[in-house]
Amino acid sequence: MPNRPFDELLDATIRHLEELREHGVKYVAATPQSLAELGQPVRTQAARPAGAAFVSRPSVAVPPPTPPSTPPIQAPNPPPVPALMPKKTEPVVAQPSLAIASPKKNLTRAEKEAAMAGLRQRALACRKCEHLAVARKNVVFGVGDIHSPLMFVGEAPGADEDVQGEPFVGKAGQLLTKIIQTMGLDRDRVYIANILKCRPDTPGQASGNRKPTPSEMATCLPYLLEQTDLIRPQVIVALGATAIEGLFGKSEGITRLRGRWLTFRDTPVMPTYHPAYLLRNQSLAEKRKVWEDMLAVMEKLGLPIGEKQRGYFLKA
Ligand code: URA
Repeated sequence: MPNRPFDELLDATIRHLEELREHGVKYVAATPQSLAELGQPVRTQAARPAGAAFVSRPSVAVPPPTPPSTPPIQAPNPPPVPALMPKKTEPVVAQPSLAIASPKKNLTRAEKEAAMAGLRQRALACRKCEHLAVARKNVVFGVGDIHSPLMFVGEAPGADEDVQGEPFVGKAGQLLTKIIQTMGLDRDRVYIANILKCRPDTPGQASGNRKPTPSEMATCLPYLLEQTDLIRPQVIVALGATAIEGLFGKSEGITRLRGRWLTFRDTPVMPTYHPAYLLRNQSLAEKRKVWEDMLAVMEKLGLPIGEKQRGYFLKA
């Protein structure tokens, strides 16, 4: 019986390994456990153990780069403040089973920047999804500080992003920028990227957006994996259900997941609502939920939080 998620994951892994080979990686290391798992028969959805709510992604393990000399955001990792942390228990997240030794060891800032520039060039020339490549105006790679401890991941570029070649510049993007500023940061001090680097095409329609398909997301994911491996953020904020689906392969539903820390290849991930949802639903209660998620992110990063900030969007 075909197992689509497995096949897509396998395809993404093979493509990623091919890309590594193109970039001079000759050997990959796998843990004995990974090899044992790879030797097992394919598990179907129904046979997946209880609690493994998410499909794991292939892992590229990169030792930490040398710390930047002037970190843009002070981000120690203090113990979380219970009052601001989501009260629900953390869901079990499947850990990656395949560890690939990457050559990007102990990168200096300059090496990291060069590696990201190379990755960007490859992404800009990408034609793996020919239907998207012919329809796009620009590849929307990512923007911001690649040394930042904070990374936002969205779904896919919309029309505005496609025109400008930059993620989150339309109405939802302007709201995201405001959220970042309300956290006491600037947009250029964080890194922003999407699961999909091309705008999902809408043939025959003059306007409108569509959700990326699982196959498009799996095809594009290696670029995001390389971005996260280079940036090594301390926290990823996943904006909306599709971002979660792109990262973890499957989503339980953003209403259930938001506010609860997940783990993506050792990096804490805070799922929250997509800013486009907040534009559609202007209720104070929903804004407060996103804001509580951002307060939890700030806590995790050790960012200062003022009294005024703590009280935003609380009912008077
Ligand atoms: N929505 C997204 O998810 N990403 C963008 O870049 C713009 C809108």
